[in-house]
Amino acid sequence: MKVLVTDPVDDAGLDLLRDGGHTVETGYDLEGEALLDAVADANAMIVRSGTDVTEAVFEAAEELVIVGRAGIGVDNIDVDAATRHGVIVANAPEGNVRAAAEHTVAMAFAAARSIPQAHVRLTDGEWAKSEYLGTELNGSTLGIVGLGRVGQEVAKRLDGLGMELVVYDPYINEERAAQFGAELVSDLDDCLARADVVTIHTPLLPETEGMIGAAELETLGDAFLVNCARGGIVDEDALAAAVADGTLRGAAVDVFADEPVSPDSPLLDVDDIVVTPHLGASTRAAQENVAVDTAEQVLAAFRDEPVANALNAPSLDEAAFPAVKPYLDLADTAGRIAVQLLDDRIGEVEVHYQGEIATEDVELVTASALRGVFGSLEYEVNAVNAPRIAEDRGVEVTESKTRQSADFRSLVTVTVRDGDDELSVCGTLFADDDPRVVRIDGYRVDARPYGEALVVRNQDKPGVIGFIGSVLGDAEVNIAGMYNARETRGGEALTVYNLDDPVTDDVLAELSEDDRIVEATRISLDQDDTESRRP
Ligand code: NAD
Ligand code: MLT
Repeated sequence: MKVLVTDPVDDAGLDLLRDGGHTVETGYDLEGEALLDAVADANAMIVRSGTDVTEAVFEAAEELVIVGRAGIGVDNIDVDAATRHGVIVANAPEGNVRAAAEHTVAMAFAAARSIPQAHVRLTDGEWAKSEYLGTELNGSTLGIVGLGRVGQEVAKRLDGLGMELVVYDPYINEERAAQFGAELVSDLDDCLARADVVTIHTPLLPETEGMIGAAELETLGDAFLVNCARGGIVDEDALAAAVADGTLRGAAVDVFADEPVSPDSPLLDVDDIVVTPHLGASTRAAQENVAVDTAEQVLAAFRDEPVANALNAPSLDEAAFPAVKPYLDLADTAGRIAVQLLDDRIGEVEVHYQGEIATEDVELVTASALRGVFGSLEYEVNAVNAPRIAEDRGVEVTESKTRQSADFRSLVTVTVRDGDDELSVCGTLFADDDPRVVRIDGYRVDARPYGEALVVRNQDKPGVIGFIGSVLGDAEVNIAGMYNARETRGGEALTVYNLDDPVTDDVLAELSEDDRIVEATRISLDQDDTESRRP
């Protein structure tokens, strides 16, 4: 597999990929057409914040399975487009949290004590001791905007340095804030008005873009602002103006709306603004951590295993995966059979779990059932985009579970409905890995769900099965297996034929012409690549 790495990522991660037998190609300056060319045959892409992974990239990258973000923020990745193209987006949200928190604390000190400015004066030969009168953080109030992973680590560190903590985060409760020694306020302005130093730790979202503008900086007043989260959250022109005119005492900025920041940015022109070039995560330990976490996720995606931090695909605990793995293909197959039998019309899909499987986390199994349902209707459907396809088509998806299962240890039933029409296909695993379809539309069968099949609804009359056999025989289609079930004697019956070759339209027409045949449907499934391995 080819992994294209477009931003510098630690070798610890890249070596893992190479050791796994994959080709790692780096291209740190790739843009425009060059990027599209390089990604065309890539199976995975690894980026940091420097590469814009746009719809055009996903369109060019037909083989792409996963984009790994060696870090937290995914605002440079069009996750919606990734989902539409069935590509997993996974980040590495833990590995650089401490580094980002430490950088925030360092930037708060740098701004409060004018360390970079004094450094430059001294290296220029000036002993400007009398010009710098700093602010002590001990005893002053820290306003934290966003008490997530980084915000919490900042809270711990600055609480330890004797600051009072006030938090604004509309998505946490008071108890959570109190765990970090902080008071939660319900209004951003309250937080800003009380802070001597405010640190920003929200993601960049439509909701947070520009959330700190001229009015908020006015409210913050005689204080310091530190932004090591994302450019765009704080209005850069307003911040430069507020520090330049003395509204704010100073600021420290690690992240910019456009990176690399333009030399003309007003933020670079104001003496009391400390800047660093997006260094929050740039420690050896953090880079090693995120590179390894990202590589492991790429390897998991290549192995078709759940990806721990997938943002747009069902993820599953590594330890829980073996229990659901055998059901992924079974659910996919049940979905495929059901939709073919209902003639590709679907308004609703229900996936019902019975027995042992009902005790597991089945989100991934349901996604596989949807992949089966939509696989014949849409191009390149996988477990990443199948739930989204259902949503886009207005198909209602329900998942239900019962612990009891009368005849089998576990059963997965996929039911597709269109108005009053509905069809269910129920599957199980024999000996834990031998998939069988055991019910179709309520009829008890025992069919191996592989290769070509014919499902016939017919009147339960003498000679019908012989007639079907002779039509298949005349067409030189060999029957590999046959399972017949009926409602009542002389009522309707359903027969599944596993075939060595597909039936033609002519065969289906010949069968359908007979009054005793209610419906004959051709089902095409994957070949059984496990057959040769069976005793
Ligand atoms: P997180 O998702 O763990 O936490 C974000 C917090 O923001 C959550 O608690 C959420 O409830 C809160 N939030 C969301 N919307 C909000 C709003 N409108 N107002 C107030 N709070 C809001 O994220 P994280 O891992 O802590 O990362 C925080 C930020 O730091 C992100 O922007 C991330 O990209 C950035 N980051 C930067 C660097 C760097 O190198 N400078 C390194 C790591 C992380
Ligand atoms: C992140 O979101 O993890 C940071 O911006 C770190 C980075 O990749 O530079």
